[in-house]
Amino acid sequence: MRFTVAIDGPAAAGKGTISKGIAERFGFSHLDTGLLYRAVGRRTLDGTPAAEAAKALKAEELEQGDLRTAEIAQAASKVAVIPEVRSALVDFQRAFAFRAGGAVLDGRDIGTVICPKAEVKLFVTASAKVRAERRFLELKAKGADVTRDQVLTDVKERDARDAQRSTAPMKPAKDASMLDTSSLSIEEALAQAVAIVERKLPTDW
Ligand code: C5P
Repeated sequence: MRFTVAIDGPAAAGKGTISKGIAERFGFSHLDTGLLYRAVGRRTLDGTPAAEAAKALKAEELEQGDLRTAEIAQAASKVAVIPEVRSALVDFQRAFAFRAGGAVLDGRDIGTVICPKAEVKLFVTASAKVRAERRFLELKAKGADVTRDQVLTDVKERDARDAQRSTAPMKPAKDASMLDTSSLSIEEALAQAVAIVERKLPTDW
């Protein structure tokens, strides 16, 4: 049986934590689609043209090195505006979404473009200030040399680019459930997301 959960939203809104929690709770597979764009973005930092990097991308690259740096995040959002890059990554994401046993994908266009028929669509948001603070603490914990202001500027710049691009802009699907995590703990946010999935899960799952 297949069942797809599409989770979209801006940077550091809590998509990753919620996706992992749902995958664990229901035994679904999880794909952080941001890693695909980050892996392509990292290749462009070495001078590889973005479309070429996207077409040649191998699943193993998602596991190699630390893709969650501020520099790679910016490179990812720059390659993500290129239509050839996006189209080269579609098949991999759809194959993942339709695998047996259930799948959770998180990103920016999962509910709108990649899986418009997903059984569950969630759009996770939080204020830019709250999101920047979360990302700042994450980066600091890894020893990165960043300030709160830099992270806030970065997050806002990336959100603007993601929301304003003409191909697959970040936006909620018309039938997405909205989840604002600004004043929720991780446990509260996950509990709300789990309840939404439970309502849609077939009784014989
Ligand atoms: O989610 P994450 O912050 O890792 O994503 C990095 C960048 O990849 C985003 O800022 C966005 O530009 C791009 N992205 C996208 N579509 C997705 C996932 C990520 O455009 N489905």
